[in-house]
Amino acid sequence: MAKNPANGDVLRPETAVAEDLGEASLRPQFLREFIGHEAMKRNLSVFISAAKERRESLDHLFLTGPPGLGKTTLAQVVSNELGVEFKETSAPALDKPKDIIGILTTLSANSVFFIDEIHRLKPAIEEMLYIAMEDRELDWVIGQGPSARTMRIQLKPFTLIGATTKAGMVAAPLISRFGITCRFSFYEKDAMETIVNRSAAILQTKVDKAAASLIASSARGTPRVANRLLKRMRDFAQVENAGVISEAIVRKGLKQLEIDELGLEKFDREILRLIIERYGGGPVGAETLAISLGESVDTLEDFYEPFLIQSGLLQRTPRGRMVTMAAYEHLHLKMGHGNTGLENTGLLF
Ligand SMILES: Nc1ncnc2c1ncn2[C@@H]1O[C@H](COP(=O)(O)OP(=O)(O)O)[C@@H](O)[C@H]1O
Ligand SMILES: [Mg+2]
Repeated sequence: MAKNPANGDVLRPETAVAEDLGEASLRPQFLREFIGHEAMKRNLSVFISAAKERRESLDHLFLTGPPGLGKTTLAQVVSNELGVEFKETSAPALDKPKDIIGILTTLSANSVFFIDEIHRLKPAIEEMLYIAMEDRELDWVIGQGPSARTMRIQLKPFTLIGATTKAGMVAAPLISRFGITCRFSFYEKDAMETIVNRSAAILQTKVDKAAASLIASSARGTPRVANRLLKRMRDFAQVENAGVISEAIVRKGLKQLEIDELGLEKFDREILRLIIERYGGGPVGAETLAISLGESVDTLEDFYEPFLIQSGLLQRTPRGRMVTMAAYEHLHLKMGHGNTGLENTGLLF
């Protein structure tokens, strides 16, 4: 199903579009600038102070949650708060053991090593990481066959920060080696509003109170989406309202981007509509659904589903995905619209 090319990237926080690369200015640098997740911040702040006082490395930190909620940001914030070096990579970039050996052996004492998408580590690398995390050692096999020998390398203390959108796909032995876990959930409305206002101030853009509130509630509880929406609204305001983002501008802009009052974009509604019209409301398996939508299972599961579930429109059941009554209401569809659902159960001949 084709996505609208004009707005396809606005709401998809898993894709780093080119303009995000230049938005380092919007990224909080320290805990005090990191908005929301108060309990998480309080705990981290204690652990960070304690580690600094002891002049030790912070315990390894595991970050999970949907894309765009601040995992990468928090990893950098933690290293800034610790006042240590920050090195980052992504699991798919670690192809051979030498890739990770190269990084681990050059880390300075107590520094932060951030691995994004940690559920995608290769088994050989994951096993090296176990020993590195636990014993600060690396076993490096040199040569092959009978002449092969193992060299043990001692590492400086470091903090591994692993981030993933799929905690369920991370092996238990790896998870158990992280001392601290932070689970990111969608942001509350108040926090979202603060983020919009903070970003508007950094971008030196004027945004009315009602406009900020509307952007905040249309950004699916996701800071990255809020920043993108704000930038689009700034464009509309520049062309139509002398640069001031008013409520009217946001209403018009959201309509043009096909984002509704729940913050759903066209593709979210297509997912719900497809389940209703073709699968009688569900249950339908994720793979089948992804194929019907022409989207990858990963994108469907990591990005679209969490927000639909959080909004009470979709349910994950052991037999597959099902829409809720609220979904019918939101789309103004009646129960029994499309298939009855019985086709999939074998009850209908
Ligand atoms: N707690 C927060 N407060 C303010 N801005 C945030 C916060 N979390 C994330 N952001 C903004 O959202 C953007 C996306 O966050 P990021 O850390 O890249 O998400 P993730 O790594 O979870 O996909 C960041 O560039 C930052 O500007
Ligand atoms: Mg990230």
